[in-house]
Amino acid sequence: MISEQLSPRLESWSKGEEAIEVLDQTRGFGGDFVSAYIFGTDGATTFFQDLHRGTDMIKCFSGILNGLFWRTEMPALTVWLHLCGIHLVPQSTIDEQEQLENMCLDLCRSAEKTYRPEEEPLTVYAQLRTNLALSGLSGELLEKTVAAELLDQIFAAVHGIGLTLTYAMFQLSRNPSIQTKLRGELIDADEEQKSSSESMTKQDLPVLRAVLRETMRVHPASPGPTFRVTPAKITHIGPYPNIPTDTTVSACSYTLHKGPPFPHPEEWRPERWLESDEHELKEMNRWFWGFGSGARGCIGNEISLYAMEQFLAAVYLNYETSIAKASDMEQMDGLFGIPKDRELWLAFRKAEPLS
Ligand code: HEM
Repeated sequence: MISEQLSPRLESWSKGEEAIEVLDQTRGFGGDFVSAYIFGTDGATTFFQDLHRGTDMIKCFSGILNGLFWRTEMPALTVWLHLCGIHLVPQSTIDEQEQLENMCLDLCRSAEKTYRPEEEPLTVYAQLRTNLALSGLSGELLEKTVAAELLDQIFAAVHGIGLTLTYAMFQLSRNPSIQTKLRGELIDADEEQKSSSESMTKQDLPVLRAVLRETMRVHPASPGPTFRVTPAKITHIGPYPNIPTDTTVSACSYTLHKGPPFPHPEEWRPERWLESDEHELKEMNRWFWGFGSGARGCIGNEISLYAMEQFLAAVYLNYETSIAKASDMEQMDGLFGIPKDRELWLAFRKAEPLS
């Protein structure tokens, strides 16, 4: 994807005069990268590759965020009111949900045609399907359960990877000195790669990693709240004792990421991850909650970091970006913290050699 699709596109963007809207591009990239891991490259989505059609599908992924509170927190009431003619969820959202479900069912049906449980390497699709079948599911229920789980994963990739990359490029475009520092690191790693054949992002890239971590701290793709219901015994949470059974509680990365280990928390300063001492870093990592943690933590964190490192390395090794058109980038409240204007317009230029 990087060499065959992203690199030629970057080259053409850098030659044109036009500003590029990057939120849809990065969301398309996130969806395609992870769905290639799920289904194999031949069976993956083509949102990024075929951006014309891809943009329509990306719009569906945005549209289904509407009315999410009602659908997830009060599903029975939502259905009941719908039957009475009161629509808490817009019809367009219901249609978009159906379109995405059909798309994912089609991807699964295509994968099923080449499904060989005994053949390596196993795709995520093959492993999930095999294990769910072993647990007793079959027929339509098996097909729909696999498709529902995999659509959730593509949904997480589209928004999680797309938003994090968009905010990283937004901040880098406003901070040319950090862009230059990052390019210096990537050029060194590229030289090293040519002599050692070690993939660039497998090397130690502290600036790139600090850029991503600081972006996820200031602009968490999933800022919360993340709801949980207390179990059947009275629960203690941190300093709060005696929380009754069946109480909805939540935590937010948005607030945790502004906690005491992060002085001037609103400032995007990747240096804080590079210059802090061991004790400060330990505290910062303890408060960092970009991928959640524990049993409900993110299972897509490793592949997301890998995809995002590959993307940013491809962009900033050879190109410079700057803001082409002002957009309101304040993150909206919700499951995913989408920027208010839902767009980011950047200019891409071939990078000047570093002096
Ligand atoms: C930069 C990208 C991503 C970010 C920032 C992100 C963030 C998160 C966060 C904060 C949680 C915890 C939610 C909670 O505590 O309720 C989570 C859970 C999860 N994520 Fe991700 N995610 C990303 C990408 C992905 C990808 C690519 C996948 C799919 C392969 C994925 C699949 C999941 C799953 C299955 C869960 C667990 C849900 C549960 O058990 O309730 N995520 N993610």
